[in-house]
Amino acid sequence: MVIAVDGPAASGKGTIAKALARHFGLPHMDTGLLYRAVALNLFRFGGDPASEFEATRACDLTSISLDDPELRSEIVGSIASRISAYPAVRERLLDRQRNFAGQAGGAVLDGRDIGTVIAPQADVKLFVTASVEVRARRRVAELLSRGMPAHLEDVVIDLKARDARDSSRVTAPLEEAVDAIHLDTSEMDIDAAISAAIDLAEKRL
Ligand code: C5P
Repeated sequence: MVIAVDGPAASGKGTIAKALARHFGLPHMDTGLLYRAVALNLFRFGGDPASEFEATRACDLTSISLDDPELRSEIVGSIASRISAYPAVRERLLDRQRNFAGQAGGAVLDGRDIGTVIAPQADVKLFVTASVEVRARRRVAELLSRGMPAHLEDVVIDLKARDARDSSRVTAPLEEAVDAIHLDTSEMDIDAAISAAIDLAEKRL
């Protein structure tokens, strides 16, 4: 069983994907972490995010741990959203994601293009979204809880820029698969969003 969870930044897709994985006893991959790892690698060796060549060199992730707390920082997220537009970067990360999706027994993956590009054959596709104001408030709370500075207005501007970049890129843009189930979590707390996602997934299986 393969479950694809896509959606914009701070929509709750990661938390929902983790909960689905726990509920169905499946392994989970947060594919955004791969793009963040490339971004952190690039940042650490002083590479230029405007250079596809340098970003592609940063795809050798042997020196990056996917547990590194710096992966979650806003600066790394912002670089990730820029370098993820490069076809060569996406190509380098493709096999790792497809192999994860193809493992015996199934998997849950969350990202931007899981239902459209990585696992178009997924049994369940969820497209999780929420208004930009709600997502910004969630992101601020999350950053503050990790002791990172955050200002609502800055986060709104950043999320809008990230949405625009993710949706307008030519290769694997953020878009809802035609057969995805749309889940708007603007009016839900996280427990309600998780229950709704589990109900929707169970109905599709
Ligand atoms: O989901 P998260 O915010 O951690 O992802 C960081 C960035 O990586 C996103 O802004 C997006 O540009 C990129 N990404 C992507 N495709 C994915 C997952 C993430 O392009 N499947």
